[in-house]
Amino acid sequence: MAIYLTGDTHGDFRRFLPESFYEQETMTKKDIVLVCGDFGGVWYGDKRDNDGLDFLEQRPFTTAFVPGNHENYDALRTYPLEKWHGGKVRPIRPSVLMLERGQVFELGGKRIFTMGGASSHDIQDGILEPDDPLFLKKFQRLNTQGALFRVNHRSWWKEELPDKEEYEEARSNLDRGGWKVDYIITHCAPTSIQNELLRERSTPDALTDFLEEVCQRCQFKYHFFGHYHSNLVLRQKHVLLYQQILRLK
Ligand SMILES: [Fe+2]
Repeated sequence: MAIYLTGDTHGDFRRFLPESFYEQETMTKKDIVLVCGDFGGVWYGDKRDNDGLDFLEQRPFTTAFVPGNHENYDALRTYPLEKWHGGKVRPIRPSVLMLERGQVFELGGKRIFTMGGASSHDIQDGILEPDDPLFLKKFQRLNTQGALFRVNHRSWWKEELPDKEEYEEARSNLDRGGWKVDYIITHCAPTSIQNELLRERSTPDALTDFLEEVCQRCQFKYHFFGHYHSNLVLRQKHVLLYQQILRLK
């Protein structure tokens, strides 16, 4: 089983075309490409998502993603939960899977902890409610201003951050394995890494603080994450991925 990793795809899967990702020539559905959040393949929650999802389903590998902040959580939660390699997933297509939060998967003899999600930082001008009587007026005004805003349940979901149960599940799964894994896959970074990356623009939250604790307490080889749209290695173990696709050895 080969495992590859990449960063945010935002619903654009061209990096997986055979001419860009030629390694797929020898891959099978047993091989996995992990996307570190902002998958974006389930965005409209209707048939407009089909082309992208069908393209992935036709690839000779399995795609698995942790959710990011730019995901349609209303649509994602309509896919039922299943068990897969020791953890919970939501199959979107037979070989396109969302990896639930707080899981420890056993893949190819490696233990992989997953904890998707992140705070959106492109919402500083607000989140509009679609049932607000002034919605259209506000939308047009903000749009004309080029403001950074999103619309609840259309382009922003509060579930971008984990809830209490997801943190509890993560802790109990890590407890069970003695806080020892091979790899950690998330969308955002632990607080101290995010601070290093974003400096004064960094706004830590409950998830970055939780990941800080995980990375302090856990024994792990590498932590892979996306969200910050760059390819970079920090403190030897924290690997920020964007469009690059790398193979786990
Ligand atoms: Fe992103």
